[in-house]
Amino acid sequence: MKVLEAQKLKKTFRRGKQIVEAVRDVSLTMFPGEILAFLGPNGAGKTTSIKMMAGLIEPDAGWVKIVNKDPHRNPAALQQVGAVLEGNRNIYWRLTPEENLEYFGVLKGLTRREARKSGINLLERFGLIHKRRTPVQSLSRGMQQKLAFAVALIHQPQLLLLDEPTLGLDVEATEDVKILVREIAASGRAILLTTHQLAIAEELADKIIIIQKGEILAEATTQELIQKFSRTAYTIKLETELDETRILELEKLGADLREKKYIYISKLEILYKAFDILNPLPIQIIEKEQAALTEIFLQIIREGNRNV
Ligand SMILES: Nc1ncnc2c1ncn2[C@@H]1O[C@H](COP(=O)(O)OP(=O)(O)OP(=O)(O)O)[C@@H](O)[C@H]1O
Ligand SMILES: [Mg+2]
Repeated sequence: MKVLEAQKLKKTFRRGKQIVEAVRDVSLTMFPGEILAFLGPNGAGKTTSIKMMAGLIEPDAGWVKIVNKDPHRNPAALQQVGAVLEGNRNIYWRLTPEENLEYFGVLKGLTRREARKSGINLLERFGLIHKRRTPVQSLSRGMQQKLAFAVALIHQPQLLLLDEPTLGLDVEATEDVKILVREIAASGRAILLTTHQLAIAEELADKIIIIQKGEILAEATTQELIQKFSRTAYTIKLETELDETRILELEKLGADLREKKYIYISKLEILYKAFDILNPLPIQIIEKEQAALTEIFLQIIREGNRNV
């Protein structure tokens, strides 16, 4: 089952004489339980794309389907999507968490009773039950963010869209949000999130899409992306120091040595030959160098063309 399908989305804004092609060509598909990180520099078109997927702004071209229904033609599609946009505009600051959940639940088609029950469950799950009668404006940023999640989930949608869910949160609240995202995905919902904190994307996402100037530059599973951009480089650390004969043999192979204990190897073939030379010396660690998502992101954005 496809939870989300977006095809060739396009959106141009006109401000006076100025024309901004915010989204030029965005297509993507999501399946249940998947976490997709939608990454890109400021102004790349992430929020605009999310708003089109959430049915909040009409695309100029292309279409969106949420569990097979187009939110721009069939309002029933909105039953299957929850969105938390920048600045938590999905909650009322003067109302309490309980009131917010009831209000938005009813708006999404639940009865008052269902909304209240589902709301209490979510408040318990998100550790907010003790604040259920405190006006939202008196809650901490982290609590407000968790409430925004709860409101987005009140009608149990299949798709959750999160625009910068950890923006402005402290370390602990960020960890809480990460745990929630994993739990929500584990319950079978698909989650699309944007973030500028690439370590969070690397930790959470199954799949990564990088967008720049309204177009997708790279799309891959997080592992594929990291593998593709990691140079094949291995480090072997020995428990004991190498003898002169082995040092010479390893150097002949093209390995780099440091402090008679560390061996740096650039290719997999050399690694196996090095093992033969090292045998039977005790090895402490073998490590493969991995590219960090930040470097990969910058490389893709700087090259600016589709290469993954
Ligand atoms: N309502 C609007 N009217 C005019 N231009 C807009 C509007 N909304 C967005 N834009 C423009 O569209 C482009 C894409 O904006 P968008 O908010 O989608 O980017 P983003 O990827 O979410 O960026 P950020 O990482 O800064 O949140 C920007 O140039 C922005 O100025
Ligand atoms: Mg944005």
